[in-house]
Amino acid sequence: MNINAAILWEQGAPLSVEEAELEAPRAGEVMVEVKAAGVCHSDLHPARGDWPARTPLVLGHEGAGIVREVGPGVTTLRAGDHVVFCWAPPCGLCPMCMEGRPVLCDRLERTTYRNRLPAGGTRLHARGQDVAHFNGTACFADFAVVAAEGAIPVPADVKFEALATLGCAVITGVGAVLNAARVEAEASVVVIGAGGVGLNVVQGARLAQAEKIIAVDTRSAPLKLAASFGASEVVEASTDNVVEQVMKLTGGRGADYVFDTVGVPETLTQALRFARKGGAVVLTGLSRTDARASFPLFPFVMQEKRLLGSVYGSGQPALDIPRLVKLYQEGKLKLDELATRTYQLEQVNDALHALASAEGARGIIRW
Ligand SMILES: NC(=O)c1ccc[n+]([C@@H]2O[C@H](COP(=O)([O-])OP(=O)(O)OC[C@H]3O[C@@H](n4cnc5c(N)ncnc54)[C@H](O)[C@@H]3O)[C@@H](O)[C@H]2O)c1
Ligand SMILES: [Zn+2]
Ligand SMILES: [Zn+2]
Repeated sequence: MNINAAILWEQGAPLSVEEAELEAPRAGEVMVEVKAAGVCHSDLHPARGDWPARTPLVLGHEGAGIVREVGPGVTTLRAGDHVVFCWAPPCGLCPMCMEGRPVLCDRLERTTYRNRLPAGGTRLHARGQDVAHFNGTACFADFAVVAAEGAIPVPADVKFEALATLGCAVITGVGAVLNAARVEAEASVVVIGAGGVGLNVVQGARLAQAEKIIAVDTRSAPLKLAASFGASEVVEASTDNVVEQVMKLTGGRGADYVFDTVGVPETLTQALRFARKGGAVVLTGLSRTDARASFPLFPFVMQEKRLLGSVYGSGQPALDIPRLVKLYQEGKLKLDELATRTYQLEQVNDALHALASAEGARGIIRW
C-alpha cells in the first residue's frame, strides 16, 4: 500500500516526506497505523551523519499506534490493539535473552542496529529502491511494519501523545535509574543533560525517592522543565564553576549517582568528577560512533568509582512499558508534559531542528 514517509536519502540533507510503498507484514510481523511519534536525539544522529547509516532510510523509533494487520503466526497481537513501539525486540533464545537481559539480545546487532527487520529484507520501497527501517521501526510514516515483539500492547484509553515517548526517552531514563543504577531512597543524584532522556532520569530519581536531584544543562529551557519534573536544584553547565557548584550542592562530597545523558567525552569527564567516592556514573548518552573518552585512572581506582553503560533502560521492555503506563495512569509519571511541541509529519525537519537547538523536552509528530 502507499503511505507517506519521512525518508533520509542522504545523511546531512533534510528528510523528504514523500510517498513510499509498504508491503504487508510477513510471518511474525505486524502493521501498525502510527498515531504519534517522538523525535529523539537518536534520530538526529543518523540524520546529521554522526552515525554511519545506509540510505535511503525511514527514521523514527519512538511512537505509538494501532495494529491494523497481523502477519502469519502472530498470536500475541490482534488488529485494533493499541501499541507502543519497542526498538529492541528480543529473540528470546540467545544467551543474553536467557540471562534475562533482553535489551542486550544478540539478534539486535543484526537487526535493529543495522536498520533491518528480524525476518530480513525490507518492507519499504520508494523511487524504485529498497528503503531501510531505522532501528527496525521506521515510525516517521503513516504506517510501519515491525516485528511482533517490537509492538507492546497497552490500554486503549491512553492518549497517543502520552504514549509517544514511552518507547525510548521514558524507558531509557527511568530504567537507567531503577534498573541500571538501582538508586536507593534518600540518595543524591546528578543528571547531565535535561532533554528527553534526562527529564526521565529526573522522574526515575523521584520515583526512587532520591533526596537530592541536581539537573545540569547548558541551556535554561530544559532546566526550567527539569525543576517542574522534580529536580531539587538546577545548574547551568555553561557557567565556568559548574564543578564547584555541584560539589557545594552535595556537601563537598559529590553525588551517589551521576547520569550522563549527553555522552560526549567532556560530559563523561565531568560526570566522573561529580560522583562521590564509591559513587556510580551511568552513561546513557550516545556519542559519535568514533568518540573516545579519557579520564584520570588513579583517582578512579583509589576512590572506587563505578562506570556503567545503560541501553534502553536495562530492563525488560515488554514488562516495563506497561508498568510505565500504569504509573502514568496513577499520576506518578509525567508524560503529557514531555510533549512540549507538536508537528505534522511534513514538518519533521522543523522538529529535528528544534531538538538540535534544545528548546526543551520532546517534539511529537501527530497524525
Ligand atoms: N542509551 C540509550 O538507550 C539511549 C536511548 C535514547 C537516546 N540515547 C542517546 O541519549 C542522548 C540524549 O538523547 P535525548 O533524546 O535526551 O536528547 P535531547 O536533545 O532531548 O537532550 C539533550 C540535552 O542535553 C543538553 N546538553 C547538550 N550538551 C550538554 C553539555 N555539554 N552539558 C550539559 N547538557 C548538555 C541539551 O541542552 C539537551 O537539553 C543522545 O545521544 C541519544 O542518542 C540513548
Ligand atoms: Zn536474544
Ligand atoms: Zn530514542
